Amino acid sequence: MTTPIPAAADLEALWMPFTANRQFKADPRLLVAAEGMHYTSHDGRRVLDAVAGLWCVNAGHGRRRIVEAVQRQVAEMDYAPPFQMGHPAAFELAGRLTALTQGKMGQVFFTNSGSESVDTALKIAIAYHRLRGEGTRTRLIGRERGYHGVGFGGISVGGIVSNRKFFGPLLNGVDHLPHTHSLADMAFSRGQPDWGAHLAEDLERLVALHDASTIAAVIVEPIAGSTGVLIPPKGYLERLRAICDRHGILLIFDEVITGYGRTGAPFAFQRLGVTPDLVTTAKGLTNGTVPMGAVLCRPGIYETFMQGPPAAIELFHGYTYSGHPLACAAGLATLDVYAEENLLTRALELEDDFATALHDLRGLPNVVDIRNLGLVGAVELAPRPGAPGARASEAFLECYRRGLLVRYTGDTLAFSPPLVISRAQIGEIFAGVRAVLAELA
Ligand SMILES: Cc1ncc(COP(=O)(O)O)c(C=O)c1O
Repeated sequence: MTTPIPAAADLEALWMPFTANRQFKADPRLLVAAEGMHYTSHDGRRVLDAVAGLWCVNAGHGRRRIVEAVQRQVAEMDYAPPFQMGHPAAFELAGRLTALTQGKMGQVFFTNSGSESVDTALKIAIAYHRLRGEGTRTRLIGRERGYHGVGFGGISVGGIVSNRKFFGPLLNGVDHLPHTHSLADMAFSRGQPDWGAHLAEDLERLVALHDASTIAAVIVEPIAGSTGVLIPPKGYLERLRAICDRHGILLIFDEVITGYGRTGAPFAFQRLGVTPDLVTTAKGLTNGTVPMGAVLCRPGIYETFMQGPPAAIELFHGYTYSGHPLACAAGLATLDVYAEENLLTRALELEDDFATALHDLRGLPNVVDIRNLGLVGAVELAPRPGAPGARASEAFLECYRRGLLVRYTGDTLAFSPPLVISRAQIGEIFAGVRAVLAELA
């Protein structure tokens, strides 16, 4: 069955996010249905989803249990104000999330997206120091090639030039660590690269430059996703943690893509064995069905805010839709599906097969690096002279034409399939990519 594409003029009203609008509208790619591991395109083709939508549909598409939970909730109570009021599902979901961390995190603050989670965590970090009498700690340290969403806080600590350069001076008092990617030193590493732990020492340089008494927090993605899947070098996150501890700096892990099973544990911090002070999440929390984000805080942070008269508001921050009933219903049902099907650890079982199929692409034309951890993988292509990004963009379009949805960023193709993927489907993804890369000039 095919769905007619709207006439060109009817596509004009929508300003599409992070999209080449004119190219898209000249040859639209519309998705009209989704089930399990597949989308259906407007021209009636089945498209294998190699990226879980946008790193979020971890349990696969169209899960009845989640759909029905949302349907029940919207019929029962559509909305409840989150300021000075509550509803049971928000408390239950927060408790289920802290339980996933085995007590490493004590409280949860709900948002509606990854970007909001990031800005929330940055604000909590600065306010936390102030409440402890260290109000000079306002500086935030991000990292080159980091992606922390699109709020002003997130783009300030982020390290992607095109996400920053159009938007003025951004936040004051931000500095950046160097990114950890070096083709010369780590190309074709399987899992965590051996090289690069020393790059964490740059934090000592920033402490020497600014003084620890001015620094509130460091924020990094355990795996940098949006700039092409950069896997943390062995020992790197451990060193960052140690330096933060030495100087009283909070460590924030942005787990918007690595949360909810992507690396074979509920959160990447558990897989990697380094516990941050705050964890930002979103996406897989509701399997992508209803927008929701969550900031997880280690024990002690919330308690720091619980001072002053009991009738006083402790944190002047929140969203109209923090802990929205539909999102909570979706989140609870999603966690049920994850638990029943052991999806939060399934990436660990599939990791070897996934890595083998991915690394088998080595030797194809223009492939300069392949990297992976859990069910996240990337193939970096050599850029065409004078046309960075063009090669990966063509590969993306050709994959889609052949029924495979992948992502690309710069000249890197990224893969993050739903965690319900079968071994045969892993083979299908990389056979498809192989065919495309073999023919790509
Ligand atoms: C690490 C990270 N942080 C934040 C975000 C922003 O999330 P959202 O698009 O839900 O605002 C993303 C989105 O991909 C992300 O990968």
